[in-house]
Amino acid sequence: MSIAQNTETAAKLRCIACGATPDSAGQSFRCAACGDLLEFFFPGWSAGSPVFEPAALKALWLKRRTSRDALDQSGVWRFRELLPHIPEEHAITLREGNTPLYRLPRCARAAGVENLQAKHQGMNPTASFKDTGMTFAASSAHQGGFRWVACASTGNTSASMAAYAARGKMHSLVLIPEGKISWGKLSQALDYGALTCQLRTDFDGCVRILNDLVRQKPVCLLNSVNPYRIEGQKTAAIELMEQLAWEPPDHIIVPGGNLGNSSAIGKALVEMLELKLISRLSKLSIIQAQGANPFYRCVREFGGKKLEPMTADTLATAIRIGNPASWKKALRVLQATGGEVEQVTEVEIAVAKAEIGADGIGCEPASAVTLAGLKKLRRSGFVKPGESVVLILTGHALKDPDFTIKFHRGDLFAGASNEAEAAQAKYLQRAPVVLDANLGAVIAALDGAERTSK
Ligand code: F0G
Repeated sequence: MSIAQNTETAAKLRCIACGATPDSAGQSFRCAACGDLLEFFFPGWSAGSPVFEPAALKALWLKRRTSRDALDQSGVWRFRELLPHIPEEHAITLREGNTPLYRLPRCARAAGVENLQAKHQGMNPTASFKDTGMTFAASSAHQGGFRWVACASTGNTSASMAAYAARGKMHSLVLIPEGKISWGKLSQALDYGALTCQLRTDFDGCVRILNDLVRQKPVCLLNSVNPYRIEGQKTAAIELMEQLAWEPPDHIIVPGGNLGNSSAIGKALVEMLELKLISRLSKLSIIQAQGANPFYRCVREFGGKKLEPMTADTLATAIRIGNPASWKKALRVLQATGGEVEQVTEVEIAVAKAEIGADGIGCEPASAVTLAGLKKLRRSGFVKPGESVVLILTGHALKDPDFTIKFHRGDLFAGASNEAEAAQAKYLQRAPVVLDANLGAVIAALDGAERTSK
């Protein structure tokens, strides 16, 4: 098996601001002329004559699902015709992607929509959506001959990068904010053998140091400014459309942190439309935590003209980001798809997370902003009751069990300014009950629960 390489569709790099098309990216993955971000584009796709026959491509992708080949089994490499070319000998895969699409009946009732589903990217090998981009970017680092790869992270990127680096026999350097990431994520990076540096700063401070580092040391930057990450992450949207028989939902809702994921999903939607794989665009909406809302303010207060960095604060530590790198890319996909931007409070996030859990799914706090945001978009009328909605759940519930336990014990907001607001979440709390070890006590607990259950 070989990775399809069609010279007509060979990818090229382009600066999103000045349009320069460099032959290769420097170590910062920024435009040498103006300093803005680079992206891949496929000149052959817009040349007029169709490059791919949509039905044949869909059939090929479906057929690969039954293959015994590792790259065919990957939910990223399976769609390689829509990605830049990386030779097979450099591909590092953990069979990422292939994530389930679930119906959320209780959440649908809570949000006031009839047709609500979640694509659970937390069901990836390292339990977050980062794996889909990381398989591709780590492979490109391998192709580039790097000994070291590095990232700044709120936790999930570092866990994913460390795993793929280990599989590709590369060393990995992780910069994370000290005390501000969950143990689940930190423990993964340690286990996968990363050099893990907890810096006394926030995520944005880690990014600044990493950007300086890559100018001095031969390490490959694997944050989502690396355009290979975006390409790999596109496949979540391609796979979603395949799961929906190529009938796009009316709305797709994603959390927004550094804004790589929204940029990738939006890019995939636009490209799939261009290639006639789908016949219309889903509206892509981006939700931020109120305490980490620079993109929300960029759109709502500044009309998309500027992004004002802020000091971010939210219990959803994955999206505790005040200066998102990919805001211009995200703005472009918001405009291209006609999506919205929303912000949600800490209590709204906690409630939404418990509601998703009550549907038997579970996710990490940052993922739950999608449901909280959907409720707001319903109230504002942007989402209509009869429209179909897909939430992108980005991380697994076990990434941050501390949050979940504190919520159910009623400790999450204890002593905080939003303690009173948190009272609205009481009905969702299921603290463990401590009983004497006798049958009568357990039966009494069971009968009590039966009386109050609906
Ligand atoms: N959800 C989860 C679980 C995340 O880990 C992240 C980002 C996001 C949402 C936001 O995605 O940055 O593409 O807008 N986590 C990063 C990290 C930044 O370092 O793991 P985004």
